[in-house]
Amino acid sequence: MSSGKQQPELVVPRSVAVIMDGNGRWAKKAGLERIRGHERGIDAVRTTVTECARLGVEALVLYAFSEENWQRPQREIDLLFRLLKRFLVEERHTLMKNRVRLLHSGRRERLSKDILQVLDESIAATAGNDGMQLSLAISYGGRQEIVDAVRVLAARVQRGELTPAAIDEATIHAHLYHPQLPDPDLLIRTAGERRISNFLLWQVSYAEIYVSDVCWPDFRAEHLLAAFVDYGQRVRKFGKVL
Ligand code: FPP
Repeated sequence: MSSGKQQPELVVPRSVAVIMDGNGRWAKKAGLERIRGHERGIDAVRTTVTECARLGVEALVLYAFSEENWQRPQREIDLLFRLLKRFLVEERHTLMKNRVRLLHSGRRERLSKDILQVLDESIAATAGNDGMQLSLAISYGGRQEIVDAVRVLAARVQRGELTPAAIDEATIHAHLYHPQLPDPDLLIRTAGERRISNFLLWQVSYAEIYVSDVCWPDFRAEHLLAAFVDYGQRVRKFGKVL
């Protein structure tokens, strides 16, 4: 007999952004070094990328290393970049198999030559893929992205190509790192934290925020699906009256 209660509907957002948090806490709880948490976080990255691609998400942005993360101990930074490099090399076949196109969001200046090389190789190898766009935010800050856009615009004004009055939201948007990516419909943050932490400040203006209590290394397909079910319950008004 049916209870008459409708199952909540799973709605796949067009664009998803994730703040992968809680690697350190996960490791501490398991009595391990912090870096082991980052290592296990790779499994959650692989699952999230594959599931999002399978479900038809068009764009996924993962916050892998923030501008602020440069202040972490050098040993942790080195290990994080070693993991990133390993991911970029070892998961290239996963990206290809899932027709994922890789992008990088962030500043290149502080990234080492060998990271830039594997990053650029993976970006080039996947450039022809027609599936989900996956941007890894590495050495990324939302304020810095806006500063970078403003610098380019100021130079254009200086050269007489643009008047200040002609600058509107669309002009600024066009100068962000990847203007072709749709703004996130859903921002997921793990480990129970309720902060934006300088992530995609311009783009998350109308994103629905979902906080999962699960630490990132434990984040699995079921948690992603729970986020999509919750997203399906949201009423998005974009400031209007419905
Ligand atoms: C936050 O946990 C996580 C990070 C700063 C790094 C995220 C990196 C990965 C998941 C691994 C590599 C990524 C890719 C895309 C291959 P935290 O260290 O701040 O955790 P805590 O707040 O519990 O200390």
